[in-house]
Amino acid sequence: MFQEMAVFTGNAHRGLAEAICKHLEMPLGDCEVFEFANEEVFVRYLDNIRERDVFIIQPIVSPVNTRLMELMIMIDAAKRASAGRITAVVPYYAYGRSDKKDQPRVPVTARLVANFIEVAGADRVLTMDMHAGQIQGFFNIPLDELTAFPLLAEHFRKLNLPAPVVVAADVGRAKLAREIAGRIDGDIAIVDKKRDGNTDSASALTMIGEVEGRDCLIIDDEVLTGGTIGSAVSLLRSRGARSVRLAFVHPVLASKAFSLLDITADVDEIVYTDTLPLIHGSFKNVPTTVLSVAPLIGDAMHRIHTGGSVGALFR
Ligand code: R5P
Repeated sequence: MFQEMAVFTGNAHRGLAEAICKHLEMPLGDCEVFEFANEEVFVRYLDNIRERDVFIIQPIVSPVNTRLMELMIMIDAAKRASAGRITAVVPYYAYGRSDKKDQPRVPVTARLVANFIEVAGADRVLTMDMHAGQIQGFFNIPLDELTAFPLLAEHFRKLNLPAPVVVAADVGRAKLAREIAGRIDGDIAIVDKKRDGNTDSASALTMIGEVEGRDCLIIDDEVLTGGTIGSAVSLLRSRGARSVRLAFVHPVLASKAFSLLDITADVDEIVYTDTLPLIHGSFKNVPTTVLSVAPLIGDAMHRIHTGGSVGALFR
């Protein structure tokens, strides 16, 4: 086994790192991570980490490229400081939406970022609800992917909605919708979404499933502009849904998402997790619940450190 754990964070989401350390009942390690005047990132660990089991917590959040570079440089510095093992804890894996070459002359950035993390020197990755499960296969080092959907489902189960409908925001989430419907004793519906070229804009075209007079819960992995989920709300309302709630794991939430979901869309409740800090605002008009993933990530880190099963967390 490795020597004791050491946990560090860059500048992406200190609040989450502190909450994880609180759960683990250990201090967050001291580390300088800052930019020089020329925007180059500098890192220095202020604790000895020789042979330690090092965890670097850094969701890839806005400004995405800076936070990604911080993660790379933190891994490099830990390697050069003779850390025993380095686990990159990336609660939100940015660049995951480009995960295949689905048109000519485009990159597969989900794979590129995986290469960066490996080349920088990480030994393992711990992440949560990536855009697509197959991104796991882009890594040649062990990766554990946690999911916050059971946490979200539990929140809605406790509401005891009569005959709810879990709505997949696009066909890719149909299997997930079925699983959550099983947990809250509901039915499912699936929205057929269309993206407009390579822009951020998306529209819900049609839907499979009955929502008239029903309490609906739209689920998605992340919300960026709110276009996907906002157009699904309009579609559900036009089909006579009684209430519409939104649940997603990653609140990427660009500023236009707030005007769209908080002001324009007719939403009863919004629930998401704290994998990312809210950088561009917060919801003012819609009742909002933030569920913390810190205990789940902390427990997974502890199990990785002690060689326990991470899968057992979900049984
Ligand atoms: C796409 O397939 C994802 O699951 C989300 O639906 C998407 O990333 C949300 O982006 P936006 O809020 O900009 O529509």
